[in-house]
Amino acid sequence: MCGIVGYIGYEQAAPFLIGGLEKLQYRGYDSAGVCTNDGEKLIVKKEQGKLKELKAMTDDGNNVKGTVGIGHTRWATHGRPSKENAHPHLSRSGKFAVVHNGIIENYMPLKQQLLKNGITFSSQTDTEVVVQLLEFYYDGSFTDTVIKVVSMLKGSYALGIMCMDAPDEIIAVRKGSPLIIGIGEKENYIASDVPAILDKTRNIYRLDNDEIAIIRRDSISVIDREKNNIEKSVEVIEWDIDAAKKGGYEHFMMKEIMEQPKAVHDTVFPRIRNGRVVLDEIKLTPEQIRDFQKINIIACGSAYHVGVVAKYIFEKMLRKPVEVDVASEFKYREPIIDEKTLTIVISQSGETADTKEAMEEAQKLGSHAIAIVNVVGSTIASEADSVIYTLAGPEIAVATTKAYSAQLAVIYLMAVYFGDILGKISEKDYKRYVSEFESLPEKISSILEMREDIKNIAEKYYECKDIFFIGRNIDYALSLEGSLKLKEISYIHSEAYAAGELKHGTISLIEDGTLVIALATYEKLYEKVISNVKEVQTRGASVLAIGCEGRNELHEITENIIFIPKTCDIMLPSLAVVPMQLLAYYVASFKGCDIDNPRNLAKSVTVE
Ligand code: AGP
Repeated sequence: MCGIVGYIGYEQAAPFLIGGLEKLQYRGYDSAGVCTNDGEKLIVKKEQGKLKELKAMTDDGNNVKGTVGIGHTRWATHGRPSKENAHPHLSRSGKFAVVHNGIIENYMPLKQQLLKNGITFSSQTDTEVVVQLLEFYYDGSFTDTVIKVVSMLKGSYALGIMCMDAPDEIIAVRKGSPLIIGIGEKENYIASDVPAILDKTRNIYRLDNDEIAIIRRDSISVIDREKNNIEKSVEVIEWDIDAAKKGGYEHFMMKEIMEQPKAVHDTVFPRIRNGRVVLDEIKLTPEQIRDFQKINIIACGSAYHVGVVAKYIFEKMLRKPVEVDVASEFKYREPIIDEKTLTIVISQSGETADTKEAMEEAQKLGSHAIAIVNVVGSTIASEADSVIYTLAGPEIAVATTKAYSAQLAVIYLMAVYFGDILGKISEKDYKRYVSEFESLPEKISSILEMREDIKNIAEKYYECKDIFFIGRNIDYALSLEGSLKLKEISYIHSEAYAAGELKHGTISLIEDGTLVIALATYEKLYEKVISNVKEVQTRGASVLAIGCEGRNELHEITENIIFIPKTCDIMLPSLAVVPMQLLAYYVASFKGCDIDNPRNLAKSVTVE
């Protein structure tokens, strides 16, 4: 997520802006910039890289004049990390400046319109479209022009805007992405998040969606798009700065678990246009896609678990053979890969050495590599033949959650996109998948509302020494992730097992009180999983079942049940993974573990 700050007062703006951006660094970023009004023009100073570059360029902001300004740290979503793509962006004559957090989903058609009118662009960002629209439609009223332009935008945005003709105003707009207004004494502030302004004021207004704030040194007015005044109540922040960075949550991991509906929404919605899945990031023609004889998926850890889910989905929907490898094994097994193999590489960081090396090996053998990556401009993203970005925002906790969910969403999009090209999906099913995509974020939210129930279950089992996860088909693929989440943050030994395989040896480990978490969401094999549940119960196991709403007979089978909403088979993992993430989180919390930074682990393993 990008970071926004703004200042309007009687002091020099730039030093505050840079100091505020420093307090937002935890959000992750790849470039930074500030813009101030020096009385004659809007001055922009920006640079790729960390804030130290900007601080050096501006002498910590001291050599940038002006008492009104906006600043930004960019987490790239459209356009790789670079100085040109960094914010703030200026309109073509320099009359407007904008900083933006979020995703303008319809920026391409808007950009095409401006290009047809002779407007040229200096960046590949969706944000620059906003600032050029402001100048293009400027009618002399700063406020009216902002209202007109934001009414054209689709997607999520928090905007900080300056206009040369209105030197004593900053306008802030919010839709989807958070934006707050800090209330000072003869000065006011804007920010994406509380930490940026906490050393100036604890009194804020939180903008709600579609609200527009006109901020001056001695006044703040909030209006709607019809220019009706909106009365805002002052919120007094009680948090300390550390808690504020986590949005009030105790850990980044919980914050990121709670961000999953937005991560899935932001990843999916820009890629569904007029009811069709659009993946123009894949640089392959339909003929080339039809030509592939098999798919090879390579990844590590949780990303590998997404690959195992993908195997079940792709083989079922596309009727093409799919191999999935942990990257560290792939490179050394002399894989049988050629130009008729499509390689899919999955990586949150885009820097995992094993995955990078394995992708290079597949490419050397002639395979086209599509990378599913969360960090724009990362090494794997740069070296892949095609890249589909998950738009989950920066993931800080070592244990991945929202990136995993966003990766799953990309897999579903690919399955529908490829299935359509291969003629494997009926129009009726296509429409059903699109409809399920649209309801997925809401269904994930409904599970998050059950977190207190899951916390109570965790309190019963956090002292377990061994925990098993079992499932069949797509539930088995998912059990791998449930087991890893638990292991990596609670340090409890855990195994994921194909439910039908347990009886071939490992069931000897089941004894009185062993916790077995049974994933029973995949309807076609539900009865078989229930038989496996009974197998372990007769040997003394305590079972926590995760099943779909409506399966009330589970109450007769086990005392611990978590129900998830129904959805199409391929999207079940996106729902069933949430209770397991929460269970792992709460078990680790009861054990007093360092949840965001588990022992022995790194967020990105950049060594083989
Ligand atoms: C997941 O919670 C772990 N942090 C780890 O397994 C991770 O998924 C793996 O190291 C791969 O990282 P990547 O997605 O950045 O390539």
